[in-house]
Amino acid sequence: MQNEIVNILKKEEKFSEETIEEIREFKLNDFADIIKEVGQQETEYLNRNKISDNLNTETIGKEIYIFKEVMSTNTVAKFLSQNDVSNGTVVLSEKQSDAKGRLGKHWESPLGGIWLSIIVNPNVDHSKIPMITLATGVAVVKTLERIGIENAEIKWPNDVLINGKKISGILTEAITKFNTIDNVIIGVGIDANFDVDILSKELQEGTTTLDIELGHRVDENEVITIFLEEFEKIAIMFNDGEFEAILKEWRNYSYSIGKIVEVREPFSKSYDAYVLGISREGALVVEKIDGTLEKVISGECIIKN
Ligand code: BTN
Repeated sequence: MQNEIVNILKKEEKFSEETIEEIREFKLNDFADIIKEVGQQETEYLNRNKISDNLNTETIGKEIYIFKEVMSTNTVAKFLSQNDVSNGTVVLSEKQSDAKGRLGKHWESPLGGIWLSIIVNPNVDHSKIPMITLATGVAVVKTLERIGIENAEIKWPNDVLINGKKISGILTEAITKFNTIDNVIIGVGIDANFDVDILSKELQEGTTTLDIELGHRVDENEVITIFLEEFEKIAIMFNDGEFEAILKEWRNYSYSIGKIVEVREPFSKSYDAYVLGISREGALVVEKIDGTLEKVISGECIIKN
């Protein structure tokens, strides 16, 4: 986090190199107010009023911090979550220089994308974290529907695809204290207005954007507002324990069910299997070639047909 703070301050050009060096000596928590102050700004594309004035939510997005560039909105959100922010606080950045994807992968986050993290305090058991991620995938698909993209699907656990190309990814991180969940950071990336040619070669073919799908650029602030509303709706279902209803929505949008996949789980040999469905805990239920059933809790599934 120390590096993230120094980076933010350098980008803002508010402090001299000398001051930044001195700042390195401060205790981490002393920075919270500085970071919150820097996060009061508007950037070229992100405008707090445009979001807040149209936002119809009770808790999500009542506190919003906006940055020009951070390493990862999840890191900033994690830091702020320890420093007196309200449930539902949102961290946004125009760009990320070292964003995190699932399974330790790097997530490319150029200007023109929607990169955000939400801090929630769900007061649930660890076993329910995968459900939060699935629920967020549903909120992304509903957001896309509201802006006119009707054919989005979710590849387990949370890649949002359009015609097989990825448009959004979700990274959920739980902050635990003494084995209980303190806060959950839900990081969401939506490829909005950039040219896929600026991504690395291996991503270009499998990526699409809102601009490509709609045939015109979108206002990031409008999409963010809609997403925060959809997220709050599904978060209320989650808090009310309506897990079956969330899973029903997820199944409705599933790209994975009924497909043959290669299952790659951490620390075990990969295998091919047929996807039967999703369990009550959010695990993917697959049938192996020998007919045995498995629950896939973490890892990834590469679609084979
Ligand atoms: C994935 O599909 O691998 C998950 C990608 C999650 C990316 C988002 S962008 C905002 C937030 N900040 C991060 O560093 N990662 C998430």
